[in-house]
Amino acid sequence: MTDVLAVHPLAPERELIARAADCLRRGGLVAFPTETVYGLGVHALDRAAVRRLFEAKGRPSSDPLIVHVASLDAARDLLAEVPAAAYALAERFWPGPLTLVMRRSSAVPDEVTAGLGTVAIRVPAHPVARALIEAAAIPVAAPSANLFSRPSPTRASHVLDDLDGRIDLIVDGGPTQVGVESTVLDLSRPTATILRPGAVTLGMLRDVLPGVVERQPSQAADNEAQPSPGLLSKHYAPRTPLTVYRGTPAAAKAHLISDAAGLAKTGSRLVLIACSEELAEILAVLGPSAPRAISLGSSTDLTSVSQRLYAALREADAAGANDILMVDALAGDGFADAIRDRITRAATTIHRV
Ligand code: TXA
Ligand code: MG
Repeated sequence: MTDVLAVHPLAPERELIARAADCLRRGGLVAFPTETVYGLGVHALDRAAVRRLFEAKGRPSSDPLIVHVASLDAARDLLAEVPAAAYALAERFWPGPLTLVMRRSSAVPDEVTAGLGTVAIRVPAHPVARALIEAAAIPVAAPSANLFSRPSPTRASHVLDDLDGRIDLIVDGGPTQVGVESTVLDLSRPTATILRPGAVTLGMLRDVLPGVVERQPSQAADNEAQPSPGLLSKHYAPRTPLTVYRGTPAAAKAHLISDAAGLAKTGSRLVLIACSEELAEILAVLGPSAPRAISLGSSTDLTSVSQRLYAALREADAAGANDILMVDALAGDGFADAIRDRITRAATTIHRV
């Protein structure tokens, strides 16, 4: 049985956090909210517990975990050395949605790093995550608390849907704020490289570290063993086939409407996902026979879009659809890049229009 502890998201109750921290220290599997997505925490130095975590998620052991700590200082024993850039980045962005990959010490079990010579470190900002890590007083390895390849959980109910009975405890601190996973920045190479885009954008990182580069898509092959084996191109996906129409709002809408009409004739049950502006027009055109629709909020509010994205994919799955059709007309780079990256990984087919 998986217990659920509901806590106050901003001021979590001390006794409840103490229970969860105790469970972690004893090698238990505890899901908890971070500002990005829910993590599935485990004592990072307890090899047997880490192996149980991989089993519970159905995650290949070749995919390394992020270790969550209270501060850069608390990670020092886990690192071979602390690069100068890490101090500057931690000063600006921690606690927050940035993960730093650095050369590790022998204190970190191979199970955590998938045998790599580096370890990923993050200081989360969510008050519940901070309270839990401080109370446990151990480094907490935590992947997203979903079954492998499913969309990351942004609510406790998503964790329960995937992992009920497979983990010890869920600390329910309400919905998460950022909605997509942290930016992963590799500091172990000569040129600091973004391995996964997130809310801490290239521009923000370059303010502190001008030389930062993005990983080129050609480096992102599925069979890649290094440097970030978890970054499979097919990831975060719903079970239902997802077709994405990407381009200008007008072209994306027109293609979706035409395909939706065709699919409806074949009797396929559809779910549509789009930002509120596009959705209103699509539903007006399709009229009374319009299929179920899920709004991501206004396209001018990227935070709303990222907060709702994974929940929308899960909701479409739960609705028993045969096909999900989605408009992606997000403009700009920065955080929009991070959201687009997750949509790309979730998609079965992308029509560039
Ligand atoms: O926002 C987040 O980062 C969430 C919350 C729970 O903190 N965690 C998360 O963990 O998304 P996970 O395991 O789903 O994704 C971790 C990513 C994977 O792509 C993995 O390959 C990469 O970080 N990673 C971990 N250790 C690494 C390492 N030593 N070198 C390169 N990439 C690494
Ligand atoms: Mg994950």
